[in-house]
Amino acid sequence: MRTIRLGLIGAGGIAQTHCRAIADVEGVEVVAASDVVRENAEKTAARWGIGHVFASYEEMLQMGDLDGVIVCTPTAVHAPPTIAALKAAKHVLCEKPMEATLDAAAEMVRVAHDTGKILMVALKLRYSPQVIVAKNVVDAGTLGEIYYAECVADRRRGNPGGSFIRKATAGFGAGADIGVYALDTALYLMGHPKPVAVSAITSNYISLHSEPVIGQWGRGIDRTEVEDFAAAWVRFENGARLVFKTSWCMHMDSLGGTFFLGTKAGLRVGVGEVRGPEEGVTVYRDEFGAMTDAAVQNVRPVEGIELFRRENAAFADAVREGKPSPIDPGGMLLTNVIIQGVIDSSAAGGKEIEVKVPDVW
Ligand SMILES: NC(=O)c1ccc[n+]([C@@H]2O[C@H](COP(=O)([O-])OP(=O)(O)OC[C@H]3O[C@@H](n4cnc5c(N)ncnc54)[C@H](O)[C@@H]3O)[C@@H](O)[C@H]2O)c1
Repeated sequence: MRTIRLGLIGAGGIAQTHCRAIADVEGVEVVAASDVVRENAEKTAARWGIGHVFASYEEMLQMGDLDGVIVCTPTAVHAPPTIAALKAAKHVLCEKPMEATLDAAAEMVRVAHDTGKILMVALKLRYSPQVIVAKNVVDAGTLGEIYYAECVADRRRGNPGGSFIRKATAGFGAGADIGVYALDTALYLMGHPKPVAVSAITSNYISLHSEPVIGQWGRGIDRTEVEDFAAAWVRFENGARLVFKTSWCMHMDSLGGTFFLGTKAGLRVGVGEVRGPEEGVTVYRDEFGAMTDAAVQNVRPVEGIELFRRENAAFADAVREGKPSPIDPGGMLLTNVIIQGVIDSSAAGGKEIEVKVPDVW
């Protein structure tokens, strides 16, 4: 098996997780690290035995024997390195969410299409047993037409702080950071219907006003510049509707869970950030002249690091075998369309606004 050689762009927190995961994946190696803060790249290289260190990713991209890069910069800095890497004929695994603005995300997808290189957004929940089984249930036609869904990504007190709460580095807050998992899970299971309108409210009341409590994440969250809560109503071209709710901080145990109503059956999915009251997959339908609930057995959560192993293995396999991106960037772009709709509707006082999927090719 040919070893796929990767370079890191951004060597902060999540880059360490990728390195740790890749250490256990056959046929992939991180051979270079770059970071505007050279010391971060140096420390990461020393920790993981990486041979080449750069303060500029442009220089790293000149390495002829580099197959691809993992973009681990803050969200609002995903597009420039991704576009530079694709133009330098490198495949890209880019951390989630794709970018802070819809325009920047659309440009990334356009360049991936034009260069023919892989652009995969690191949506690790696609590799969770729960989402894999839920997709099998949907693909078997069990649900019929999905006409309504609710998706949540919630934490009771999990504002991450740092670069996640600055407008300049994150762009948006919980709605993009963990909300992207909920949106991607919903869109993936609904078959990527085209969103046409969004109405939304956002707030950051709890981050700004609550006293610190035991179990709270993040320091300095009272300086949060982005939203820690968002709720949205999304309409799709095919008539389906989605309620999207997300929270980093709230006085509640759950926002109600992720579920899908179909004409033939309903489906509840609970996984990691997209949890509800429970983890797992349950199908609700009428059978035997009665209402039945079928809990899929042995769909147990896997460790977070295992999701990173699977994600990196899928990316490397696609690079090695010349396959398309394991996670279609055109489908991913719809998460940005909705997130941009949430931002714009909230800025317009919660009014419903029309959203448009950009023409990317
Ligand atoms: N998949 C997951 O579970 C997960 C978890 C955490 C973070 N993330 C995502 O990973 C991304 C990074 O998050 P993080 O927690 O590692 O942030 P971080 O702040 O710890 O690290 C970001 C690094 O990028 C560097 N950087 C900034 N601008 C750069 C540039 N122009 N060129 C090169 N390097 C640059 C910084 O110096 C820093 O070392 C975010 O998009 C975040 O949403 C994903």
